[in-house]
Amino acid sequence: MTLTSVRPTPLLNISPLTPLRVALLGCGVVGSEVARLIIEQAEDLRARVGRPLELVGIAVRRYDQRRPGIDPELFTTDAEELVSRDIDLVIEVIGGIEPARSLILAALRHGASVVTANKALLAVDGATLFEAAERAGADLYFEAAVAGAIPIIRPLRESLVGDEITSVIGIVNGTTNYILDRMDTAGIGFAEALAEAQQLGYAEADPTADIEGFDAAAKAAILASLAFHTRVTGADVYREGITGITPADIASARDIGHVIKLLAICQLSPPIAGAADRTVSARVHPAMIPRSHPLAGVGDAYNSVFVESMSAGRLMFYGPGAGGSPTASAVLGDLVTVARNRLRGAVGPGESSYAARPVSEIGSVMTRYHLSLQVADKAGVLETIAHAFAEHGVSIETVRQNGRNANAQLVIVTHHARDAALSATVRALRKLDVVREVTGVMRVEGD
Ligand code: HSE
Repeated sequence: MTLTSVRPTPLLNISPLTPLRVALLGCGVVGSEVARLIIEQAEDLRARVGRPLELVGIAVRRYDQRRPGIDPELFTTDAEELVSRDIDLVIEVIGGIEPARSLILAALRHGASVVTANKALLAVDGATLFEAAERAGADLYFEAAVAGAIPIIRPLRESLVGDEITSVIGIVNGTTNYILDRMDTAGIGFAEALAEAQQLGYAEADPTADIEGFDAAAKAAILASLAFHTRVTGADVYREGITGITPADIASARDIGHVIKLLAICQLSPPIAGAADRTVSARVHPAMIPRSHPLAGVGDAYNSVFVESMSAGRLMFYGPGAGGSPTASAVLGDLVTVARNRLRGAVGPGESSYAARPVSEIGSVMTRYHLSLQVADKAGVLETIAHAFAEHGVSIETVRQNGRNANAQLVIVTHHARDAALSATVRALRKLDVVREVTGVMRVEGD
């Protein structure tokens, strides 16, 4: 589609005392911190932007919450009216799909630039937002949508845009990283670790989006789209959460010198002579990674994103990925940038989806599996099991037996194979008489 974009008018010839008018949509954990910083750091922000930033309104769902330090006159429950005022910059930190989408689109239609932290919306319908921004000649910035305070959107969108990124692997959900870290370091179970995460305010009262991997999948879609210049939505991302991880899985990982992390893995397939387009894949699932891997040391509720590219090589981004203050830091960074752009009559980069690469199904992704099996300990068992792997073209890297007689456990780690072949192997193993139970199946990544 060809878009008619409007070039924003530079504001440089307007008096430097004329403020840029800012509207804030949402005043929860992140929004209240953003408001506080805009108010308390007004002088520094003015100096950095070259013009004062005036917070003209804050849309809230209810008036009744007390927000110390914020003029109550700023609050309104009519967000639609707020974005239709003469506003330069709109910050959306409401989250969710609606009314956030309608409000962002209305703000762009009215010519405002938008800063959003809304990963769910970007993952579901980023294309509509980018097109609206392009049409309006306005900015759409979203550093806070992925990995909180960690600068990762701008590096992918700008710093590395001249390079070819081949892989982005991230720990992009702090709640699940906290839970898995506690299971590993304190030896506690999933339920206890989740309760701790809730007590510390990391996990929501309804933690589904975090522990089932939806939050990380939305972030994976955003990262894959930016890294590979193509459109990847949340629905394109294969997703498994961490609710099934047991202390036995944690111990199995430890036994082979690995640790379990919930990873968002975005990959560009290697070029193959004569093959059609290179494909991309995006998936979120728990995986065992070697303790020597740079992501293995990311503990507590921290986030980290590991990027590999053709020219730069390996890059690692690390920091706090959630919470009011860190997320507000990313929002304020975007706010200053879009304000500066506006003064110069410029806009930052829009969507880059020219490559239009097909997204691979999980079945065709190459990975490795770690399997734990309870087996009968007698002659011929190993041969029967090895045969099931061979039949599916899966090569075994290591086999170890623990225990014997009635309690024999086999631990098998495979070489790389297509995920479909690996899961077909697991189905075949479950049908074998000699296999009493498949007690653990986990992907192995990072080596
Ligand atoms: N709930 C997310 C996390 C932060 O635990 O990382 C917001 O995406």
